[in-house]
Amino acid sequence: MQADLVLSNVGQLVGVTASGLPSEGSGLANRFQVIPGGSIAALDGRITWVGPASELPEISRNCARHDCGGHVVIPGLVDSHTHLIYAGDRVEEFEWRLAGASYQEIAERGGGINTTVRALRKATNADLASQTRQRLRRCLAGGVTTVEVKTGYGLNSADELRCLDVIAQLDREGPWELVPTFLGAHVVPPEFAGDRQGYVRLLCEEMLPHVATSGLARFCDVFCDRGAFDLRETRSILETARQLGMKLKLHADELTCLGGAQLAAELDAISADHLLCIDQAGIEALARSRTIATLLPGTALFLGLSFAPARQILERGIPVALATDSNPGTCPSENLLLMGSLACTQMHMSPLEALVGMTLHGAAALGLSDRLGSFEPGKQADFVICDVRRFEQLFYEFGANHVRQVFKRGKLVFDANAAAAS
Ligand code: NIG
Ligand code: FE
Repeated sequence: MQADLVLSNVGQLVGVTASGLPSEGSGLANRFQVIPGGSIAALDGRITWVGPASELPEISRNCARHDCGGHVVIPGLVDSHTHLIYAGDRVEEFEWRLAGASYQEIAERGGGINTTVRALRKATNADLASQTRQRLRRCLAGGVTTVEVKTGYGLNSADELRCLDVIAQLDREGPWELVPTFLGAHVVPPEFAGDRQGYVRLLCEEMLPHVATSGLARFCDVFCDRGAFDLRETRSILETARQLGMKLKLHADELTCLGGAQLAAELDAISADHLLCIDQAGIEALARSRTIATLLPGTALFLGLSFAPARQILERGIPVALATDSNPGTCPSENLLLMGSLACTQMHMSPLEALVGMTLHGAAALGLSDRLGSFEPGKQADFVICDVRRFEQLFYEFGANHVRQVFKRGKLVFDANAAAAS
């Protein structure tokens, strides 16, 4: 067999699948196998063989053998929902919140998302790239090799397109892989405060057509909530995006239950995200659809809200992806493994469901499960070596970073020992 990389001395290989077909409900977690003493062979960044090391076929010469030190190996993590491209922080507003103001009250006073919009519009492309690069480095050090990045702090054609350009530049730089989403419908920007309809028109008639022709965004997302966009506005924006050939995502039922989950299901969005306030009708609508439920427990933690009803969602067979929502207002963290701890302890998900959520289901929420998210011949050789005995420890020892080494497309791209030395 031809290979240029083989893993040896793996304690547990977690995340082996037999088929890369998109998930069929939570049953998928049962097909996410753990092989004690497993191995992977790869050629040119793609997996060619997966199985128990004892069954490894004869390999051609010139193949690098990477010793995994008896540790656990998991697929490269996929953070399928972030707002990572922003300027500055909102630490003052954090203090206001600690003194009693709610997230919505701060937004109504002109703070919140609009604070970050002001900061981003002033930032140069170089500033924006360098701040975002720092965050991506933290993602990588935490085992995340693929990151969805939403715009949504530009809120005019020039600044939104500039963000998409910077995301494309950072994706070319690598070693991470970025998936861009257009979130021009994040809130109504201050210059349209008295003319909501005018902003929705700008989105549909100018911004979306530009974004679609630029080819710089894979998805269109809308923040459908009180204080953001209502159901009717959301529908018209998403329908326009769909007509322009874009795939859809939706911030649904995050702070209030507006029926976003039903709308996401009806429009065949690839994912409905947040769902802190989803009701039974929303769950039933998702269960009848192909839409993935993306849960973001860091946001509930940071805002002090109730967590999404993960068990009810999983029990209806809806695939659940887990992501950080990393952003300056509701979850200033890039720590995806920590979200797994929250999923287990606060949403009663099993460690295997949590891991599937941040690998295979995360990939499915980006339409990439045919090449990412599990160990299977033909998929990308993206994997993470973790200094634990069994993978459950990743969520049990919460907040710790167990990541030793990260490989993207068969290449070592992060080494904790080298990072500590430098
Ligand atoms: O997902 N919900 C909308 N957007 C973010 C918050 C963004 C911000 O506060 O800057 C979220 O929670
Ligand atoms: Fe979000």
